[in-house]
Amino acid sequence: MIELDRVSFTYPGGVRAVERVDLVLRDGEVVALMGGNGAGKTTLLKLMSGLLKPSEGTVRIDGLDTRRTPLNTIARLVGYVPQIAETLFFLESVEEEMLYALRNFGMLDRADRVIDLLRAFGLEGTEKRSPFTLSGGQKKRLSIAVVLAWEPKYLLLDEPTLGQDRAGRDAMTEIIRRLRDEGKTLVIATHDVEFVSELSPRVVLMGRGKVLADGRAEDVLTDEGLLREARVLPPQSVVISSRLEAMGVKKTSSFEDLVLQLRSLLKSVGGCGEPEAR
Ligand SMILES: Nc1ncnc2c1ncn2[C@@H]1O[C@H](COP(=O)(O)OP(=O)(O)OP(=O)(O)O)[C@@H](O)[C@H]1O
Ligand SMILES: [Mg+2]
Repeated sequence: MIELDRVSFTYPGGVRAVERVDLVLRDGEVVALMGGNGAGKTTLLKLMSGLLKPSEGTVRIDGLDTRRTPLNTIARLVGYVPQIAETLFFLESVEEEMLYALRNFGMLDRADRVIDLLRAFGLEGTEKRSPFTLSGGQKKRLSIAVVLAWEPKYLLLDEPTLGQDRAGRDAMTEIIRRLRDEGKTLVIATHDVEFVSELSPRVVLMGRGKVLADGRAEDVLTDEGLLREARVLPPQSVVISSRLEAMGVKKTSSFEDLVLQLRSLLKSVGGCGEPEAR
């Protein structure tokens, strides 16, 4: 369990990035952290990973206070994948990056995972290359693979779909679904509302360092006033369903649900909802 108790954080320059946040993330939960630029998402993830210590309040990981626990102990439990992938890399090859943490945590017996992970992220064949020579999207995928290598219990992903093409994004969705199904606790900071509505997780909405809302995706993402306040675009399913509310369509953040509703609406008006079976 990750527990934030009245957590505030002020950067040395004086910016108050996180303001009195109370949050409990239970094991096995998938949480999307959303909010406009500068809302405090990255700062909050860094506080959860022990990279930053709270100015006030307490962050506990499985009961361990991040202020009193060595960073290595926290890092074994909490894997943080930064917004800018390069900040994680410092070695000469992709393979070395993947093996570094395994060596650090005395887990080299699991080195065979490296090749499976690279394959899962579409990075096979890059083992000997410098991570800095990969494309932006490849770097992003490698940064997640590097952190997954040591199998942290909690995985914090900062903008995982940033800069991903269709294949990269599909691979990312698939991997995140698989991790969720395996029971991994995931916290994902993202602006990608379509990605969030596909996963349908718990959504924590932030604005100016504070938690503005915390609830199921289908409730938070259908509240357009709240999304505007938090400077988050609504998913297309919400835009379309809310425009059709007068026709009896229920507002929904699920694309699948929207399609089902439209089908039954079309059926009821003209019997043309379901295409003929061929
Ligand atoms: N290293 C830093 N030093 C000083 N202020 C910082 C630093 N990093 C972030 N901030 C400030 O803290 C606030 C929160 O920033 P943060 O990066 O956590 O937001 P964010 O929600 O992740 O934004 P984005 O969506 O742009 O990634 C902003 O006002 C930002 O300018
Ligand atoms: Mg950020």
